[in-house]
Amino acid sequence: MGKQRILSGIQPTGNLHLGNYLGAIRNWVELQQKYDAFLFMADLHAITVPHDPQKLAENTYSVAATYIACGIDPEQATIFVQSHLPVHTELAWLFNCITPLNWLERMIQFKEKAVKQGENVSIGLLDYPVLQAADILLYEPDLVPVGEDQKQHLELTRDIAARLNFQFGSEEKPILKIPEPMIRAAGARIMSLTDGTRKMSKSDPSEQSRIDLTDPPEVITKKIKRAKTDPSRGLEFDNPERPECHNLLTLYMLLSNQSREAVAAECREMGWGQFKPLLADTAVEALRPIQEQYAALMDDRTYLEGILRRGNEKAGAIAGRTLAKVKAALGFSQPL
Ligand code: TYM
Repeated sequence: MGKQRILSGIQPTGNLHLGNYLGAIRNWVELQQKYDAFLFMADLHAITVPHDPQKLAENTYSVAATYIACGIDPEQATIFVQSHLPVHTELAWLFNCITPLNWLERMIQFKEKAVKQGENVSIGLLDYPVLQAADILLYEPDLVPVGEDQKQHLELTRDIAARLNFQFGSEEKPILKIPEPMIRAAGARIMSLTDGTRKMSKSDPSEQSRIDLTDPPEVITKKIKRAKTDPSRGLEFDNPERPECHNLLTLYMLLSNQSREAVAAECREMGWGQFKPLLADTAVEALRPIQEQYAALMDDRTYLEGILRRGNEKAGAIAGRTLAKVKAALGFSQPL
């Protein structure tokens, strides 16, 4: 038996932040030896809201460099670019024709993002989860490691696969493999530094709300110093009245690689004046090697291009087979 497969991706929209790292990339790094990892840049998803064409390609390279700088080994994992493989959009179209509209209208992320777009909501924004289902199902992964905010999209992916199997396959011979979401408890939902009840997000207009992986040490320190806190003394996990306290302790726990018990004991008697510099130093030290590697990789475009070329080739071969299987099941004629 070969290794089980994982697949995941990130949109190249703006800088990646600690939520992307702790909720997703860091888990991939841990999983990449045990699993056959397929990791991509979801650049087709990045244009579902207004985008800057001057930055799209650069951001795509920047996310690839970030994966590797965070510890993804390009010799083990397959790293590729979504838009370089037209099979993603082709399978999305086939899925469009079997997905009920009301499944998409229910999606929380669509509703949240649509409010921000006002009159300019594109069909792409509504259709986004169908493309995501294609991204996933093309590679027949066993597991999809993501943060908590992607849970609903993964459920939809499973529903689309089950519907296609039901309508065009048979129980003994399913067409598509139905993957499981993999959402780790710790880090699955890193919250904003300005409001511990909202998730840390690339689209938050306030830079202060997030720590980007490329923030220099003084910016990280300043953001942590200004992070919202509460007047209570002594720090604790899990108090619903103190969401910021829980979030900052979680960041400290993950970035210092300590257990929850050790952090709870260390910080039980601390005040914010003592804790914040400790967290700031820990974050700076954890990001330092990543930032150094990132800078070196961004300077070596030929190396990055080589990795993506190989990744696209390997991913394209697998995805092409799945697409052919689906088209055959739907009754298309063979290309002549
Ligand atoms: P994106 O680009 O918004 O986020 C990438 C990954 O980071 C996780 N994440 C977080 N985790 C914890 N706390 C947070 N505050 C936080 N913010 C983001 C996300 O859960 C995600 O794992 N639709 C996807 C991209 C995508 C995809 C796919 C993912 C497209 N096709 C197929 C998996 C499989 C997205 O917008 O992620």
